[in-house]
Amino acid sequence: MKPSRECKEAASLIKEYRGSIVAFTGAGASAEAGIPTFRGKDGLWNRYRPEELATPYAFATNPRRVWEWYKWRMSIIAKAQPTMAHKVLANWERDGILMGVVTQNVDGLHQRAGSFKVIELHGSIWRVRCTSCGIRRDLGFGNIPKEDIPRCDECGNILRPDVVWFQEPVPLDQFQRAEELFSEAKVILVIGTSGVVMPAALLPINAAREGKILIEVNPEETNLSNLARVRIREPAGKAFEHLARLVEEDLT
Ligand code: APR
Repeated sequence: MKPSRECKEAASLIKEYRGSIVAFTGAGASAEAGIPTFRGKDGLWNRYRPEELATPYAFATNPRRVWEWYKWRMSIIAKAQPTMAHKVLANWERDGILMGVVTQNVDGLHQRAGSFKVIELHGSIWRVRCTSCGIRRDLGFGNIPKEDIPRCDECGNILRPDVVWFQEPVPLDQFQRAEELFSEAKVILVIGTSGVVMPAALLPINAAREGKILIEVNPEETNLSNLARVRIREPAGKAFEHLARLVEEDLT
């Protein structure tokens, strides 16, 4: 398949601004790895009630149900392989084209693909946190807790997934690191996000207001589309296959 005009336009911008580019990713970046998105056609929030599964109140009233659901998501992610998009972003970081990734995803697939500079705004499904002493522990990719309700080794209290739930703030240190990275960038690749969840979506919105170039990769129109200079209406895996080749061509 020949690359679209939009892919060519994006590739020349990536060549022109190499080294000043940040990727901002959402669930769509992992969709081709078999991980459901949240608001798409078969999105999780069309099948499950977020207020019952992804809020502090839901966990306080029924931690077993919330853990059951997270362990189910962990079982899907544990079987997933990074997509072409994850791999190309990791290669571009290695080659000095990309400064880093700011992600809303908790699946750990960017790191799995070899990305080092990854800012996880919404935490990680492969990390737990004690609801009492606050201690955090990395489980490691693919390691699903055996217990129905895992407990803290230090104080014995209930552990929770170290992710950001609705009605919870994004960790300030992570958000500030993301703002810093965005402030140094000239181009933002916005990949597979509906751009409706705040404060995460404020990052690309403010970047566009500051005159930075947004390149959107998403088969569908989103909340951020009208801010984008280039809109690649293709699945991320396919789009990055083209972009990798076009950027490679331009650079050799
Ligand atoms: N390639 C690129 N984009 C895709 C693909 C694909 N193969 N498949 C779907 N998409 C797009 C959809 O069109 C949609 O715009 O990915 C987007 C996914 O949007 P959401 O499901 O809303 O996911 P996201 O934007 O990451 O949600 C943000 O909401 O539920 C919370 O904490 C959760 O981090 C999540 C946040």
